[in-house]
Parts: sequence; C-alpha cells; structure tokens
Amino acid sequence: MEFKTIIEPFRIKTVEPIRRTTRAHRLEAIKQAGYNPFLLKAEDVLIDLLTDSGTGAMSSQQWAGMMQGDESYAGARSFYKFEAAVKEITGFKHVLPTHQGRAAERILFGAVLKPGDIVINNTHFDTTRANVEYRGGIALDIPIPEARHPDQYHPFKGNMDLARLEDALQKHGDRVKMVMMTVTNNSGGGQPVSMANIREASAIAHKHGVPFFIDACRFAENAWFIKMREEGYADKTPLEIAQEMFRYADGATMSAKKDGMANIGGFLALNDDDLARTCRNMEILGEGFPTYGGLAGYDLEAIAVGLFEALNEDYLRYRIRSIEYLGERMKQAGIPFIEPTGGHAVYIDARKLLPHIPWNEYPAWALSLVMYIEGGVRTVEIGSVMFGRQPDGSEKPAAMELVRMAFPRRVYTQSHVDYLAEVLDYVKDIAPRIRGVRIVEEPPVLRHFTARFEPAHGALVAE
Ligand code: F0G
Repeated sequence: MEFKTIIEPFRIKTVEPIRRTTRAHRLEAIKQAGYNPFLLKAEDVLIDLLTDSGTGAMSSQQWAGMMQGDESYAGARSFYKFEAAVKEITGFKHVLPTHQGRAAERILFGAVLKPGDIVINNTHFDTTRANVEYRGGIALDIPIPEARHPDQYHPFKGNMDLARLEDALQKHGDRVKMVMMTVTNNSGGGQPVSMANIREASAIAHKHGVPFFIDACRFAENAWFIKMREEGYADKTPLEIAQEMFRYADGATMSAKKDGMANIGGFLALNDDDLARTCRNMEILGEGFPTYGGLAGYDLEAIAVGLFEALNEDYLRYRIRSIEYLGERMKQAGIPFIEPTGGHAVYIDARKLLPHIPWNEYPAWALSLVMYIEGGVRTVEIGSVMFGRQPDGSEKPAAMELVRMAFPRRVYTQSHVDYLAEVLDYVKDIAPRIRGVRIVEEPPVLRHFTARFEPAHGALVAE
C-alpha cells in the first residue's frame, strides 16, 4: 500500500520555543521598528517567514561534521571536503568559499565588470543587482512574459526569454560581460528554470562568446522541479540533474544558506584559470585565505554535508509538497498568489488582494505589516519598496507587488502551515480595510532593509 500523506522526513532532536504575543504587543513592536519587519526583534515574531536563507535546521550528520572541523588557517582538511563536495555536484575546476552568496557576487563582478557593462539575468536577486550596479554595470532582467502574470500557469515560469537574450546580445555586443541564470528564480516567485532553457541560454551566450553563470542558491529545488515536470528526467536523481545543469555553465555563485542547508556560507566556482586567479586575489582582500574564505572550518563541514542532504529525494518531496499544500489552502480561500507555487516560498499577489492601495503607498509592504500585526507572521515585501527606486533616484512601480512567505528548511511542521492558512483567511476578510504606508526615511541603496515607514492614512487597518 502506497500511503498518500507526505510526512516530514525527520524526527526532531532539538527544539527551540517560539513565543506567542498579543496583538497590542505586536502593534507597539512594529511601530518601534519603524513599520519595517527587518527592524523587528526576532523574539517578537511567532512564525518567521522573512527568508529561507540561513534559517534552516541542521541535521545530526551536519553537527557531527562540525565537530570534525579543521580550523587550520591554510589547507584545512575541511576545505578539501568542501571542495570535493562542490566539485562532485558542479564539476567546476576552481572553488572559492565565501562567507555568503553576495560575497561571491562582489568578487565575481569586481573581476569582470567596468562601468557601462551589462549583465543579463532571468531576474537578478536584489543583492546581485546591487553588486552589478555598484560596479557601474547595468543589470538587465529578461524573464519569459508569463513570469509577469501571477495567475498564469507555466511549469517553468523562471525561464529566461531566449529571443530577448539573442536580441540583447546582438544589440549590446561586447558590453555584455555575463549571462546569468538564477535557479530557482527567487524574485520572480521561486519559479524553476527548465533544463532546456538552461541549455539553450548557455548555447546562445557561448555563440556570442559571453560566459554563462548560474546563481545556484536553490539548485536542488530547481532539480526537483525538472525531475517532476520536464520530459526525460523522471528517472534521473536530483544529483544527476544538478550535475547536468552545471555542465552548461562556466561557473556559479552560491549562497549555501539556502540549498547548502547551512546557517552561513557560500562559494564562487568557475572553470577559467585567469579569472579564478583574479578572483582569488580579491577574495584574500575581502574574505580571507582561499581555503577558508570567511568561514570557519566547521562551516565548511556543515556545507559539505548539507549540499547532498538538499538533494535527498524524500526531503525534496516533503519540501516542495508543504509549499504546494499552503497554495492549495490559499486557493480554497480565494487569496491570490503566484501560480504555481515555487520551491521555497509562496508569493501573495498584493496588487490583486489590495487593489485600492496605489503602488506608491506600497500595498505589499502594508500587507506584510498586517500579517505581522494580526498573526505574528513575518514575511518580506518584493515590490515597489524593494525595486521601485531607480539608480538615478527616481521611482517607478515594480513589475509586481508581492509578499513572500519563505520557508526555512526543516524548521516548521504542518500545523504551523495550518495556522498560517488561518491567519491568511482572516487577513483576506479584512483586506478592504487595509491602508497603505509612506516612507519617512530611506538609505540610497537596498532601502527595504533599513527604511522607516508610517501609515499613510491613520491606522493600518481602518475601523
Ligand atoms: N541570489 C539569490 C537568488 C538569492 O536569493 C540570494 C539571497 C542571494 C543571491 C544572496 O545570497 O544572502 O547568501 O548573500 N537571498 C536571500 C533571500 C537573502 O531572502 O531570498 P546571500
């Protein structure tokens, strides 16, 4: 008998209490935090879906690995274990550990970009875009058109628009220094990219002599979607699929805080010897000696084990199913979200849920605040606060107004998801009474992390 209930494929060995708070307490906490969920104390949050990055639970195998951490400054055994793991999965020749993903981006773009150069991506994540722009580069996003329509189904909604890629490469020529594929496409809804799209994008980039890199944060989740949805992959293992994905690329940046199953860490991996030499020198400047790159030996151990745990089929089945389950509950309740659900998160379509709030009163930001006030749930806005501000200081609406509920790996169980669904039902009921916010104070870049806000019309939820 094949039973249909998909269970959490682990037993819980250590627990961390979470704290219930009152609505009044949360209202005061968020006010103190300048109406910015990033500025809340985590203790004041009941269910924290701010990010799936570095927030996962490690396995007993990872903790055991950490006890074997070799903390030698140079040539540590832990580095060689880490390097072997990354090489087995990616096949890249050079592996540079970094303290997290953005450090790999900073090193890579520092080595290849000069002002006016272009990087093309299905969709740049915010730190990736910021690192390109910080070098004076231009970050061009070319997702397929379906990606911009939250309720349109596409099995690989993270795909890159290949016709636009060809056009951009013809039009901009030498100025394009890199084509990058983000798997899964985080800012576009955690949506997967098909193997066919990776293969073709790589072929087009190479035809124009441009290197093709993968932003590999969620490579294992992407591999699972390929296994489930793409013809010819059902009988391959996630590891084999991941290996094929990387085979088309010249290198990758990785945040091991996602599919590395670690609380910190990342890497830059690549084939080109000259570029690797330049990057290693830059790594020494900012991260540390190339056999530790800003990490402790024990972190390298945790990642070496975690990368393979992320590729475990029982884990991936449970992981993707728990996200899909929340999507089903939301669909029943009539709450609009990006369909189909992605790998690490569900993205609520705030433009649709709160049509009465104009983009410059940040509907997704307001929704995120209300979810915290009503249910103690912390989420993140991916909308006009995150993307509205242009490099020249002007503002324009983001492509979508989303609230992302990102799930830490192996942390929450089904009852947490059921609670969340109940909170969302309630928030939907009061949606017509939710009001927008205005920015009181903001930094010049990556403003969502530290900007302060206030309700634009008295209370956030009108009586
Ligand atoms: N690329 C993607 C696609 C990401 O999602 C992230 C981080 C990074 C690069 C940067 O990695 O945080 O280790 O420096 N995303 C987190 C998130 C922060 O919440 O989605 P990092």
